Amino acid sequence: MQKENLLVEGERILRLNWKDGFTIPTSKLYPFQWNWDSGFVCLGQCQFDIDYAIREMNSLFSGQWENGMLPHIIFHSENEKTYFPNFDFWDSNVNNGAPNKPKTSGITQPAVHGFILEQLVNRFENNSSIIEFAKHLFPKIVNSHRFLYKYRDPEKEGLMFIFHPWESGRDNSPIWDESLNRININPEDIPAYQRRDTSIAPTDERPTSDQYDRYVYLLQLGKKYAYDELGIFQESPFLIQDTLMNAILIKSNNSLIQLGKKFNFDTAEIEEWNQQSIKVYNDKFWNDDIECYVTYDLRGKQQIKHKEIGGLTALYAGIPDQNKASILNKYLQNLHNRGYYICPSFDVDSPLFDSKRYWRGPVWPQMNWMIYHGLRNYGFEETAEIVKNDLIELVDKLGFYEYFESQKKVVSDLNNGYGGKEFSWTAACIMDFIKQAD
Ligand code: GLC
Repeated sequence: MQKENLLVEGERILRLNWKDGFTIPTSKLYPFQWNWDSGFVCLGQCQFDIDYAIREMNSLFSGQWENGMLPHIIFHSENEKTYFPNFDFWDSNVNNGAPNKPKTSGITQPAVHGFILEQLVNRFENNSSIIEFAKHLFPKIVNSHRFLYKYRDPEKEGLMFIFHPWESGRDNSPIWDESLNRININPEDIPAYQRRDTSIAPTDERPTSDQYDRYVYLLQLGKKYAYDELGIFQESPFLIQDTLMNAILIKSNNSLIQLGKKFNFDTAEIEEWNQQSIKVYNDKFWNDDIECYVTYDLRGKQQIKHKEIGGLTALYAGIPDQNKASILNKYLQNLHNRGYYICPSFDVDSPLFDSKRYWRGPVWPQMNWMIYHGLRNYGFEETAEIVKNDLIELVDKLGFYEYFESQKKVVSDLNNGYGGKEFSWTAACIMDFIKQAD
């Protein structure tokens, strides 16, 4: 397909998934508004109608809780019954600060909105309605960060914890296996439930039923404590400080600091958070043997020693020094030389690598977008170009899917990507990449 046609198709998909105020990731599989998906979606929307991006963000923040938490799903419609776990299963009103309308889930997702807002402002610097919107959204985003620093970092380390794999955005990554296996499921611990995803997408591209039981167990644990973080911190067998969650928070802190300077807002609190977070991120997550940043298991009190895509997002947040950044760049170059589209979401040399199954191996569009910009931060233009062009090539050959096979020799015999099709963030990232290429 010509680049021009990819742009046209991207716009068609974003318009198709637009539900008059917000965008669903894809029909059927994910029929509501997802937190970090919406952020990336703005990158595409702003190319054809900036008003969509403004409404997208406003819809998302209409689900923000009083304590500042920005939920991972906003259930704008209570009539859509094809998703599990739906709003009634989450029952987020057990927490007094959750809005009654729209209904929401009880957990959060990576805090991308600070850097997305900065992108919008930089692109529309002379548009007064964008500037006005940015000033209106700014304190809400700060509040969502304040939630993380206040409730997700009880020991005031500077790193946030998650208590559910869905909060990391990387649902079934092998990095969660050990913590999830710690959970002993008794049948009475979880209510009977029916998955919907496996009747929509092929079973071998989705998490296993064992994993799903554990996701439901952790959801129930959150609900038991009215999604109040202290009880969860004390009890949850799954308690993780994640590389990606924390890198994105740091990147968005940086963006808020830049925006705050522009608007003459006080950013002292954010600067203080960020200094500490960057330092501890380097101290606690870097692993010399793995040659990457790794996630930390707070319950097991140890690093989770796997090479995995979350650690690479540190590049986007400007966390590594030039030396560490070169090590990460070499890793990507090496994968490229070995015949992989970069970047696979998990270590291709691990027995746990599974090139089809969701976060256990495939290439993800929004990850390529962040890694591309991260590499450019450090001057690795050549690798950045590969990351960008690999995604464009995959989408061009296989379609606007949710995620993609990473082994070139396998891709050559494929006609489609994996997971949901006509996928919103895929459309948005491609549109933005093509724009960068111009
Ligand atoms: C899956 C992904 C998550 C994404 C959601 C909606 O759960 O793992 O990152 O936000 O789908 O696209």
